[in-house]
Amino acid sequence: MQSLDKILDIKYPVILAPMFLVTTPEMVRIALDCGITGAIPAMNFRKESELKAAIEDLKKHSDKAFGINLITNRSNQKYKKQLKAILEAKPAFVISSLGNPKELITEAHKVGIKVFCDVVDLKFAKKVEDLGADAIIAVNSSAGGHSGIIERDELIGQLVANCQIPIINAGGVSTNSDLNHVMSLGAAGASVGTIFMASHECHISDDYKQALIKYGKDDIVLTRKLSGVPSCVIKTEYVKKLGTKPNILELLIKNNTFLKKYAKYLITNFGMKKLEKAAFSATYKNFWVASKAIENIKEIQNLSVIIKKLVQPK
Ligand SMILES: Cc1cc2nc3c(=O)[nH]c(=O)nc-3n(C[C@H](O)[C@H](O)[C@H](O)COP(=O)(O)O)c2cc1C
Repeated sequence: MQSLDKILDIKYPVILAPMFLVTTPEMVRIALDCGITGAIPAMNFRKESELKAAIEDLKKHSDKAFGINLITNRSNQKYKKQLKAILEAKPAFVISSLGNPKELITEAHKVGIKVFCDVVDLKFAKKVEDLGADAIIAVNSSAGGHSGIIERDELIGQLVANCQIPIINAGGVSTNSDLNHVMSLGAAGASVGTIFMASHECHISDDYKQALIKYGKDDIVLTRKLSGVPSCVIKTEYVKKLGTKPNILELLIKNNTFLKKYAKYLITNFGMKKLEKAAFSATYKNFWVASKAIENIKEIQNLSVIIKKLVQPK
């Protein structure tokens, strides 16, 4: 099976992962200069014109492949417009998350864009393979953001054994030996997020960055407060106080027949507001999304240094 560096003609098989409100064009530019690729969530742009301009700017900066992450379920009200902007500006690949990527795959392939699909299990992996996905992003139980349910090595094993398309690991990679390990299991590459947040170039608040250093793997908990789907966050005093289960109001929305139709949209959007606040305000009264990879974060460094440490053996 082809590895990601061969598929995209880059030096190392690593994606600077799409992270809502975190991954910026500047971070992706550095990633491309360091020989890896990167992907930005379409949601990080308020307007589709800004999304399109960012893709065009990145293309001017580098001829190396980069991607955009598109939410393909009904919670994304901007889906149609974002898809149009992507098809016009043509990044090398799109990472689909949360929904059925059928239309995206069909339309992207018409203009030569590759589609990598987030999956959490074999069933969904087979589905996207049948739809014509170019690769699978295997989101495991260690991944930051919306974590998967299956442990890293088990998920890679299941997917490598049963799928014909490349499997890109997401979660449980924060060192060069982790990267080598997943590659030795047959992964085509790795999508890596949390460790890159501890960089000078990442624009999250200083308190968020200090928390990445201060807390360790045992301080990461799953919460359903941010959106309907479990997300992993740092167990700050605020998170401890609030608990990690949805409150009565959130449950009411989810279980009410009338509101149910809109529940996904409402909860995702409420969650996004909380996330937006957490990313930019300097108070602990917030949710800070991160994975157990924070165990290996000891200082804030230049992004290029973190990338080099990941891709090059000591
Ligand atoms: C702060 C944060 C935000 C994220 N936002 C998104 C997102 O918008 N879309 C997405 O597909 N994945 C998102 N993810 C998941 C990452 O793309 C990737 O799968 C994950 O970071 C890999 O695990 P790691 O953080 O342990 O490296 C996010 C992860 C983090 C840490």
